[in-house]
Amino acid sequence: MSDRAKPWCAEERRTLARVAELKAAANSPTPDGPPGKRRQSVSLVETGRAAWAEQTAQRLLEPLGRRWQHVQGVVDQARRVARILDADQAEVLTAAAWLHDVGYAPALARTGFHPLDGARWLREQGHERLACLVAHHSGAGYEAEERGLHGELAEFPEEHLLVARALTYSDLTVGPDGRRVDPQARLEDVIERYGAAAPARAIRRAMPELLSIVREVEAILDNISAVYE
Ligand SMILES: [Fe+2]
Repeated sequence: MSDRAKPWCAEERRTLARVAELKAAANSPTPDGPPGKRRQSVSLVETGRAAWAEQTAQRLLEPLGRRWQHVQGVVDQARRVARILDADQAEVLTAAAWLHDVGYAPALARTGFHPLDGARWLREQGHERLACLVAHHSGAGYEAEERGLHGELAEFPEEHLLVARALTYSDLTVGPDGRRVDPQARLEDVIERYGAAAPARAIRRAMPELLSIVREVEAILDNISAVYE
């Protein structure tokens, strides 16, 4: 797990540069008038990959009811969070949010560990980056260790860019019914529901890292909100 603790120095610099760029844009003169506040429209940069992801997720997950509600809530959250990313990364985040739980689809289930089943299927479809993001979302590596599937999950390189942490943030802040939740309460609920089983053991170990990701993303969002609101 030591690589998870790496400081993402280069990326932190990029994030700070991104915030500075947004601040500069917000204060620069516009063709229509004086300096003012401008908001980036993420929807304008969503492209074919996100549309495919949405159609695929709907086809495979809508029959699952609450799971589909959760996924739609995570996508809404991801779209809100996407403003901390560059346009191309925002599109990747949206697509990954649609598909992060696709491994729950009965047609795709092989090992019963949804991040791995989803990632393998996405790799077969030719979406390698989405496969890697899905494989490792929300601390999946911890549960893979508890289930003895760490070697299998390692078939997918873990991405340490901000988009990966934004995906985890979006998932952790949305409950099973698609509504926003407190992430700590969500994780504690998993521990309570699963008792001594693998998901609960994994969450106990993963919780410090996951809550650290939540704090980091919220800090960036707060910084950007301070520019625009
Ligand atoms: Fe999820």
